[in-house]
Amino acid sequence: MVTGAGRRVGYHIARRLHQDGYTVIAHYRTLTPEIQALAGLGITTLQAELSDSEQILAFVSDLKACCKQFRALIHNASSFEPTSVDLEVAAEQYQQFFSIHMLAPYLINQGLQPWLKGENGEAADIIHITDINVENPTPRFDIYGTTKAGLHNMTLALAKKFAPDIKVNAVAPGPVLFTEAHSDQVKQQMLSETLLAKEGGAEPVYLAVKSLLSNPFITGCSIPVDGGRRLSKR
Ligand SMILES: NC(=O)c1ccc[n+]([C@@H]2O[C@H](COP(=O)([O-])OP(=O)(O)OC[C@H]3O[C@@H](n4cnc5c(N)ncnc54)[C@H](OP(=O)(O)O)[C@@H]3O)[C@@H](O)[C@H]2O)c1
Repeated sequence: MVTGAGRRVGYHIARRLHQDGYTVIAHYRTLTPEIQALAGLGITTLQAELSDSEQILAFVSDLKACCKQFRALIHNASSFEPTSVDLEVAAEQYQQFFSIHMLAPYLINQGLQPWLKGENGEAADIIHITDINVENPTPRFDIYGTTKAGLHNMTLALAKKFAPDIKVNAVAPGPVLFTEAHSDQVKQQMLSETLLAKEGGAEPVYLAVKSLLSNPFITGCSIPVDGGRRLSKR
């Protein structure tokens, strides 16, 4: 199951898992052409808003109704924007980002724990898509970053809590796909701070996910997929 599969990285992960032979459940919020394309491949798509607990719990029930067991849960859904200077707006952002980045993964992981089953006696997987911001924060995005840091900490806590039946790891992207909000100047700055000096694309994120799925002896770990930017970012 992949959350936020309606575009960009989440869509890529869902499509590549399907290509690699997994039965994929693709979560989305907004019905997009990408979700229609996944449905066209025979992938089950489930809609859910992840910004409040009632809707998250309803989604957990939908997931339980749709599958008897899950090999992996991949938490990719995310909200990304700078922190507002207006405190009332910042308060809303905190509630929303907390819900998407922490509460939803927590409730889904906890609710589906008994449904998670590995193959051939090996552990199942939970993978949190975090961000290099959890190690080296960007102050302008501090609400985004601190809630992603909570997700990073949850990776460690649940690795302990769910062992030995479930591995819990994170993949921490750096500049893999720019957004429309990135100006040319910001893109250049980000690339100049990235050791491998390029925008990585979604495939390296998928390759990290795949390596975690195929490795039976890694848990409580975070893999940076950032071209080295965590080392050089100001
Ligand atoms: N792109 C990068 O370079 C980069 C860098 C560092 C970390 N990351 C992390 O990598 C992951 C994928 O990045 P991305 O750039 O592909 O993300 P993205 O384009 O922002 O897509 C996020 C996805 O989450 C969904 N989502 C947002 N709010 C939601 C809500 N309230 N309820 C349910 N779903 C919601 C979105 O659905 P809608 O279409 O409905 O909005 C969308 O499908 C994210 O976790 C991100 O933090 C990415």
